[in-house]
Amino acid sequence: MSDASEQPGHVPVLPAEVLELLVPAAGETYVDCTAGLGGHAAAVGELVGPSGRVVLNDLDPGNLARAVVRVRGVIGEDRVVAVEGNFADLPRELGRRGIRADMVLADLGFASSQMDDPGRGLSFRNDGPLDMRMGPSLPITAAELVATLPEGDMAHLIREFGEEKHARAVARKVVAARQDSPIETTRQLAEIVRSAIPRARGPVSRIDPATRTFQAFRIAVNDELGSLDRFLAAVTRGAASAPSEDGWLAPGARVAVIAFHSLEDRAVKRAFGDLVSRGLGEHVRRGIVQAGEDEVGRNPRARSAKLRVVRLVASEGAGAG
Ligand SMILES: C[S@@+](CC[C@H](N)C(=O)[O-])C[C@H]1O[C@@H](n2cnc3c(N)ncnc32)[C@H](O)[C@@H]1O
Repeated sequence: MSDASEQPGHVPVLPAEVLELLVPAAGETYVDCTAGLGGHAAAVGELVGPSGRVVLNDLDPGNLARAVVRVRGVIGEDRVVAVEGNFADLPRELGRRGIRADMVLADLGFASSQMDDPGRGLSFRNDGPLDMRMGPSLPITAAELVATLPEGDMAHLIREFGEEKHARAVARKVVAARQDSPIETTRQLAEIVRSAIPRARGPVSRIDPATRTFQAFRIAVNDELGSLDRFLAAVTRGAASAPSEDGWLAPGARVAVIAFHSLEDRAVKRAFGDLVSRGLGEHVRRGIVQAGEDEVGRNPRARSAKLRVVRLVASEGAGAG
């Protein structure tokens, strides 16, 4: 991994595996759906070189700006294209601009810099406003959801997106608490959730009981699964359409997704499996690729990372987003 990847604030996960499986070549176009701080993009940029091109996309304008500066430093000012927005809308935007990707990466979730910023309200470890939005353009904050969702809908959300078996008890406590006073901070919500969950018997769990409920609200606020589904549908459309159609995926394009929880990984597995069974793609590596103990030791966030990569079958072509 290059020096360019070692920027403080976010350590890219599975850096060597991403390069090995995407196989970047000089002159190719790389599309980074979730630029973050540009760690993966800088590493791929070095390999596509000044005859290649890097497209950087992020919902978070601050992250996008930092990634652009970093990758421009590697590949050159005019070889970087920046697009601020949801990656679900990116395929259409690329089609509109006439850009075809040879490689695509979606490294889902949030960057450590976002998680560590108390102002984002993503973490219960630091007290902050209950916001959780990855970008300012998103319409609803976690505080608004917590204040307005009916109890049954909240229990459903916590069960589905957090896979929390005490979802009903958590929702009941949250609704009771909000009648006393508004729930506006991460600490308030974390304490209410912890009070609703029975203490585990047996070996003490290292996972804070608030983790699953926070995940659930974050997924809902950012429509994480809806965005992923729209993106995966665009990959399928791109793989299925004729090479003569102008689209966003080049013939033989490699598409990689790094998921951090089972709900995301299930969707990726299904979509990529479907491409393979229809003869439109092939697995670059069967099954999921995960970080080794060394990487997890250096970067605990890598523990739950699951990478899948599919390569479009060149003869079937690629097309419209
Ligand atoms: C895990 S970080 C990416 C880190 C990056 N690969 C690197 O090496 O620095 C995920 C990034 O995706 C962005 N993001 C999350 N969901 C998004 C979405 N639906 N559309 C666009 N960007 C999104 C977040 O704002 C965050 O910057």
